[in-house]
Amino acid sequence: MTASEDKNLVRRPIITANWKLHKTVAEATQFVDELRARCADLGDLDIVLAAPFTALAAMRDRLQAMPFHLAAQDVFWEAHGAYTGEVSAPMLLDVGCTYVIIGHSERRQYFGETDDTVAKKVSAALQANLHPIVCVGESLRQRQAEETFEVIKRQVQQGLAPCDAEDLANVVLAYEPIWAIGTGMTATPAQAQEVHQYIRTLLDEGWGGDVARTVRVQYGGSVNPDNIAVLMAEDDIDGALVGGASLDVESFVHILSYQRRNT
Ligand code: PGA
Repeated sequence: MTASEDKNLVRRPIITANWKLHKTVAEATQFVDELRARCADLGDLDIVLAAPFTALAAMRDRLQAMPFHLAAQDVFWEAHGAYTGEVSAPMLLDVGCTYVIIGHSERRQYFGETDDTVAKKVSAALQANLHPIVCVGESLRQRQAEETFEVIKRQVQQGLAPCDAEDLANVVLAYEPIWAIGTGMTATPAQAQEVHQYIRTLLDEGWGGDVARTVRVQYGGSVNPDNIAVLMAEDDIDGALVGGASLDVESFVHILSYQRRNT
């Protein structure tokens, strides 16, 4: 399967809003209400809203019977215990999450996340029946030093080390070049495609052809209403992880409706 017309049959597109440290409960629920009013007929895709922990319960109540998935932006690897400040995978499930972002570069950069902690969190999420969205991506320095593939290989192989092929069916990957996050410097579709294709090669080597064919890989890094369609047109890009441009309903709806605007 290489033809782009076939890819959506095998891998349902998935677009995730990553709100990061933004939105109060009132702002989050207002967003959901406005999104509901705006999003009829968006086409066949999974829409995931990754909100701050504090807004999740209120959003769950609003999202019932709506075609959106709720996600957290991080999770701890233990289910319970003396871990002040942490939130576990069963707690996220309890509050209505079906997805959780793991290993975002901001967590790696500011909170000491490593490939090892990513692997533990992926295990914990899968055990709780959550879908991990596992983020990988190189820094500008690494790209300039031509270390991109090496970095991606380490992050994919170590971060997904606990997974077997069956687990991978529940995992989403996100390629987010750090130099493109929040900078307005999107990777070109060709740059992103090159790494997405490489990720599929790694999946093939590690878990076999079926996994490589079916696991969804999102692109993240300055995705906006103007560049979403060209990114999504690439053979191995199955979705987007959207930060800044997901905070405003209007802009997010534009991103979600890329298929309709494209036809
Ligand atoms: P951005 O963030 O869209 O604001 O670049 C993406 C992300 O960090 O997930």
